[in-house]
Amino acid sequence: VFEACIFDLDGVIVDTAVYHFKAWKRLANELGFNFTEAQNEKLKGISRVKSLELILEWGGIEKTAEEQQVLATRKNDWYVEMINHMTPEEILPGTKELLESLRAAGIRTALGSASKNATVILEKVGILPLFEVLVDGNTVTASKPDPEVFLKGAEALQISPEKCIVFEDAIAGVQAAQAANMKVVGLGEQDVLGAADLVVSSLEQINMQTLTNLYSK
Ligand code: G6P
Ligand code: MG
Repeated sequence: VFEACIFDLDGVIVDTAVYHFKAWKRLANELGFNFTEAQNEKLKGISRVKSLELILEWGGIEKTAEEQQVLATRKNDWYVEMINHMTPEEILPGTKELLESLRAAGIRTALGSASKNATVILEKVGILPLFEVLVDGNTVTASKPDPEVFLKGAEALQISPEKCIVFEDAIAGVQAAQAANMKVVGLGEQDVLGAADLVVSSLEQINMQTLTNLYSK
């Protein structure tokens, strides 16, 4: 049977994409160009540095490495200002219930996110204690679809990758889980995340039984 679940953060546990969008849009507008929701979609699961590179490319603007550092920090300051106001009401439906039932069943839990702000977000929404292990943008060097983030999670839990189930909303994250040899539940649209072992629109659709069935497939 499966022994651990590893959760992505943004788009799985909380919908921080709206805050990322506001902060990136403000930065793009200051630089003199627009930034759309469709472009924001493409940044899901993508690190801060890589996101900025893409945004500058879309805006047709070149910046030195030092300038990029300043811009990324400016965006992050705005982002942090917004996430500091997050409340437990912002946990996506079904998350807390699932984490609690996993704990009751003795299934281990880890976070596997590209975000460097993961700890503060989990604290703000009040579910930090439900994770045994946090692997985030501060610990990981290779971005999804590289499996590093999930392999580090399994390693820290001392569970073999084949016994882990990953929850992901980004294509790059689904690919990372598969490269790590883990089962993966996609959160979102079937047409986008069809490569996942199971696609649902919300964690409300997941319980111990769905996971046991998925794992024995
Ligand atoms: C997640 C989000 C991305 C974000 C990345 C880094 O993967 O889906 O949109 O760019 O984390 O987040 P950070 O909080 O470190 O800027
Ligand atoms: Mg995500």
